[in-house]
Amino acid sequence: MRPDHLHAPDRSREHGAAGGAAAVAHPNIALIKYWGKRDERLVLPRTDSLSMTLDILPTTTHVRLDPEAEHDEVTLDGVPLEGGARQRVITFLELVRERAGSSRRAAVDSRNTVPTGAGLASSASGFAALAVAASAAYGLDLDATALSRLARRGSGSASRSIFGDFAIWHAGRPTGSATDADLGSYAEPVPVAEFDPALVVAVVNAGPKDVSSREAMRRTVETSPLYGPWAASSEGDLVDMRSALRRGDLDAVGEIAERNALGMHATMLAARPAVRYLSAPTLDVLDSVLRLRRDGVPAYATMDAGPNVKVLCHRTDADRVAGVVRSAAPGGSVLVAGRGPGARLLAEGER
Ligand code: PMV
Repeated sequence: MRPDHLHAPDRSREHGAAGGAAAVAHPNIALIKYWGKRDERLVLPRTDSLSMTLDILPTTTHVRLDPEAEHDEVTLDGVPLEGGARQRVITFLELVRERAGSSRRAAVDSRNTVPTGAGLASSASGFAALAVAASAAYGLDLDATALSRLARRGSGSASRSIFGDFAIWHAGRPTGSATDADLGSYAEPVPVAEFDPALVVAVVNAGPKDVSSREAMRRTVETSPLYGPWAASSEGDLVDMRSALRRGDLDAVGEIAERNALGMHATMLAARPAVRYLSAPTLDVLDSVLRLRRDGVPAYATMDAGPNVKVLCHRTDADRVAGVVRSAAPGGSVLVAGRGPGARLLAEGER
């Protein structure tokens, strides 16, 4: 496969005059977590990670090229983005323009179905949708692997949202070459058995987090004595997880995901100063998951850089699990997700 920086830009494919391009992507939840970068600029992780793409909360993004414009215009849910959030999108567009050999500015309009600030990672679906729409608008012909590498530069976890179902993001190995340093770091689908899991998402706090995942990762890697041991054990978790998914063994998948997530949070708690995303309602939901298991319902928890809890269970148990979780965290809201699709371009008629 050709590295994406060798793809020749095709001017005739630039969609500036033809109304641009639009794409949709869904969030993903990691069952084996990405926590810690080895290169911040290229967004290269220290460990492999593995996730399930959800079938809820899609992001739809339109990118229109404007030959007259002097600046990029970026809106999220109809509101112009400002400051760091706007700059992050513009830096990403610069990367696409560099590859396409274009200097045209763009108007980016992104819509989330998740209520703004609901505390759910929308950067994965956001940058996956932007990677697909922007590369098409600028006439780049990227395959899924190259799209995944590109999305990674916006947000690491976005590399996995290019794919549906279950995806592994390879950390890649340092090659010593400046130009192909990140070629080994991309996501791809992982083979799984026919099984029907659900993720019950308990939104216990809709507020923005105090510490960004970027800062929390950096602090954990630099100061936590538990980081090295967790990263090493995560390699074994990944091997076990792949085998559990091939068997369609929900109990094993859940047990491995839960221990991997708790371990990741332990590394943060041991950072100096500590990073603690888990709050009292988080622990109430974790207690309810233990009660469900004691009552014979297979249910397993995972948490990301925030207090919200995602509970893995059989689809057939999802309503019961959602009810128990809802009463454990009465102030929050509960959503049920299944296996979702990969990112895709929208046809004219779908926009
Ligand atoms: O992609 P980022 O920078 O938002 O990092 C996400 C990290 C976790 O959500 C905590 C874990 C993961 O693998 O998605």
